Amino acid sequence: MSYALITGASKGIGRAMAHELARRKTDLLLVARSEAVLGELAAALRQQYGVRVDFLATDLSLPGAAARVKQWCTEMNYPVSTLVNNAGYGLWGRFDRLSLAEQRSLLQLNVQTLVELSHEMLSLLQAQPKAYILNVASTAAYQAVPTLSVYAASKAFVVVFTRGLRYELRRSNVSVSCLSPGATSTQFIERAGMQAMQATAAKFEMTSEVVARIGIDGMLKGKAEIIPGLLNRITVRATYLLPKWLTEKLAANLYEKHLAP
Ligand SMILES: NC(=O)c1ccc[n+]([C@@H]2O[C@H](COP(=O)([O-])OP(=O)(O)OC[C@H]3O[C@@H](n4cnc5c(N)ncnc54)[C@H](OP(=O)(O)O)[C@@H]3O)[C@@H](O)[C@H]2O)c1
Repeated sequence: MSYALITGASKGIGRAMAHELARRKTDLLLVARSEAVLGELAAALRQQYGVRVDFLATDLSLPGAAARVKQWCTEMNYPVSTLVNNAGYGLWGRFDRLSLAEQRSLLQLNVQTLVELSHEMLSLLQAQPKAYILNVASTAAYQAVPTLSVYAASKAFVVVFTRGLRYELRRSNVSVSCLSPGATSTQFIERAGMQAMQATAAKFEMTSEVVARIGIDGMLKGKAEIIPGLLNRITVRATYLLPKWLTEKLAANLYEKHLAP
């Protein structure tokens, strides 16, 4: 039996993906910072689905985190056939008013660790008959989003990196996919400091369970980019059809009016 390793598995979309994979009888390795939450989730998944589950509590925004995850997998001799790079967060506000330290930390988690984990884990994935990498981006990846500038750029990186790696590995046993959710009901809004947008987001939100199911289905089918929900697919398509100045103005109109002056 081989394992699926999920980052950011304690909450939200990552937690829902853990349930989705466990439901499909996949053994799991859960990674996030909240040790107690991971411990409870691991116990619940073992009991509910009869799968093997282990967890590692670690801060993936710290340099060297990916190497520690790989070391844990090799020391424990865990055969890993799926890597879900899901841990990530946003920061909402004007670029110059957000702290540089926090934005650096976002880039470390959303970009640097995702690349490093993909690199570190590839040899383990290549040792399996069939393997998958699923990188979680966002619909924000497809255009510049004023007030979410660094976040949107970090997710654009994820989409382009995923496509490049996917092509490089096209003749290998490793299928690489990208999941780009739109607004999803999780703690994302709170972490990003976007509480003022809560009511607007609630009108469009999908549940993390539905996003996780569509994401895992798409990954197993070997899709390149998975965008859950018709509205999200239309929004992304519009970014290819409309001039950039217009999509940026529309996004700014949506987000800027909720910002404190
Ligand atoms: N919700 C949305 O509307 C939405 C839309 C598009 C894309 N996404 C993307 O979906 C992914 C999952 O987000 P979510 O919506 O499920 O948010 P969430 O509910 O806030 O969950 C984030 C997960 O990442 C983990 N995490 C955060 N910082 C970490 C760190 N430094 N080290 C290790 N783990 C860390 C959290 O666990 P701990 O706190 O225990 O560490 C948690 O398990 C992110 O990449 C996000 O950008 C979300």
